[in-house]
Amino acid sequence: MEKEIEEIRNLIQKAFVGAGLEGRGLKIDIKKPVKEEFGDFSAIISGDKITEGGMNFEIAITKGKKPVEKIANNIPISEVFNFEFKPPRYINFFYNRMSGNKKSEALLENLKRILKEKEKYGSSKMGHGRTVVIDYSSPNIAKSFGIGHLRSTIIGQALYNIYKFLGYKVIGDNHLGDWGTQFGKLIYQIKTKNLNINKLTIDELEKIYIEFHQLAEDNPELKDEARKWFKKLEDGDSEVKKIWKACRDLSLKEFDRIYDLLGIKIDKTFGESFYNDKMQEIFKEMKGRNLTRQSEGAWIVEFPNDDPPSLVLVKSDGTTTYFLRDLATIKHRLEEWKPHAIIYEVGVDQQLYFKQLFYTARELWPDKIFKDEKSAKGIDLRKDSRVRLVYVGHGLMRSREGKFSTRKGTTIHLEDVLNEAIEKAKEIINASETSKVITEEEKQILAKQVGIGAVKYNDLRQHFRRDVIFDWGKVINLKGNSGPYLQYVFTRCNSILGKARERLKVNEKSKLSEVEERILERLNSFQKEIEQKRFDEYPEDKERGGNTYAPNIICNYLFELSQEFNNFYDKYPILKADTKEQKEFRLALTFAVGQVIKNGLTLLGIESPERM
Ligand code: ARG
Repeated sequence: MEKEIEEIRNLIQKAFVGAGLEGRGLKIDIKKPVKEEFGDFSAIISGDKITEGGMNFEIAITKGKKPVEKIANNIPISEVFNFEFKPPRYINFFYNRMSGNKKSEALLENLKRILKEKEKYGSSKMGHGRTVVIDYSSPNIAKSFGIGHLRSTIIGQALYNIYKFLGYKVIGDNHLGDWGTQFGKLIYQIKTKNLNINKLTIDELEKIYIEFHQLAEDNPELKDEARKWFKKLEDGDSEVKKIWKACRDLSLKEFDRIYDLLGIKIDKTFGESFYNDKMQEIFKEMKGRNLTRQSEGAWIVEFPNDDPPSLVLVKSDGTTTYFLRDLATIKHRLEEWKPHAIIYEVGVDQQLYFKQLFYTARELWPDKIFKDEKSAKGIDLRKDSRVRLVYVGHGLMRSREGKFSTRKGTTIHLEDVLNEAIEKAKEIINASETSKVITEEEKQILAKQVGIGAVKYNDLRQHFRRDVIFDWGKVINLKGNSGPYLQYVFTRCNSILGKARERLKVNEKSKLSEVEERILERLNSFQKEIEQKRFDEYPEDKERGGNTYAPNIICNYLFELSQEFNNFYDKYPILKADTKEQKEFRLALTFAVGQVIKNGLTLLGIESPERM
């Protein structure tokens, strides 16, 4: 009995937040009702400090409003119990007595919810009042947008969309690599080669950068030259700054073209250079707290037992580091947005670095930054105002043959891969019936939606930590677990609905077949799948651990739902169903499946074309 009471309490607390109610002192009284018709447990909800849509909760009830019903609507439907709202403030729970009938009733109820909520279905207000900063994409200036930054862009964007859907305030920040010694190298090259910065292309920039490294192998003193140029940049030399800016503008233009192709827009692009004048302050703070010491001229940070190993904060010539800029970035984000979490979507090759960064930040601002998951046991993170630093380190992107390489054997250009995907998608489209009835222009748009969707899905469908094998056969595969497959099932739903003249209707008395019930159950768990992504209610427990920041859970969910629907479609007539009632119901089911696929794809940053 204790267990059930605890469970009910948790459910109501969650639903309270999900319903967008606010304030302290939520009172939940759980009793065993005297009369059986009131269920096994009765929860009575009150709270005179709670508000709902700006109105005091208790006053709302006296005015005949139904805030408790709102809470009840946010309780997920379960197989172990049924529940009902009894005005004004009761929610009655019926345990283990959910007969087959009751269960299908609940599932049908949920189906109606989908028809009503449409693109909002699955969303929630649980993140209300909480802010998340997501640091993602973050390519480096003066290099082309490589395939390595694609993963960060895609996963970061999916996390961004998911947290928004859950009601959090989300800020995407593209931490461009636009500052650092590498600019010394570029500027050195531009100066000694006397190049015209207004005529440079990104390919040339990349070439002279690679060339510098080759030259420096035989002439190590060149590195000192490069450092001198970077120092000039940091010291504010106006001519050097002009060259730097030209390189930056050039790169941004190229990046924008790629973001456009990917259909991605990131809220902020401060970039490392933004922190140029904010680093001395941090350096002082670090010295003040005795967190850095001088070693061979440089300022370093050491960690207990040298694990992780020490890291340079300020170089011996006084120039700054990626590390110092990241500390300044954290401070800026804390002041600017007061976030509850900062999520870093960066390659797994920086795992050690983020350990060093987080450790240092926690030492520097102990009262502002959450320590670690272990010490979080028993803390309700929603009540904890310290920010959580989270590192989501993605694995490498590899081609089936091993490492990614281009014709030239250098780093692969993302744009080439994306264009190839679009070309391959066009082949599929050209072979379809649809291609006969659409214009060339529509074909092009569709090819882009399918090709880009395929690349994104291929990346998202596996756990972020694993390496992604890039195999064209699987990326663009209309039958397997792929983006085009899901888009195809969506268009299938669409086409059925387009042919029907009946209304979508859910009749509570409908007798459900086994497949129908399975589809309904799956539709019902959509919200649960997404809510797994929340990170700030209780410390992540073991079962959820690793899944919290993993969009692949949503991919798997959508794939299974699509397969289930395809089975259904193959076995049961929809447009030619026996009775009108059956037809209406099956159409409603078809609509709901399409809607949920679309909602899921949208979260993944993938478009759902109307037909293909
Ligand atoms: N520009 C960096 C790179 O390409 C990634 C930046 C990640 N974000 C950060 N705050 N360090 O390696």
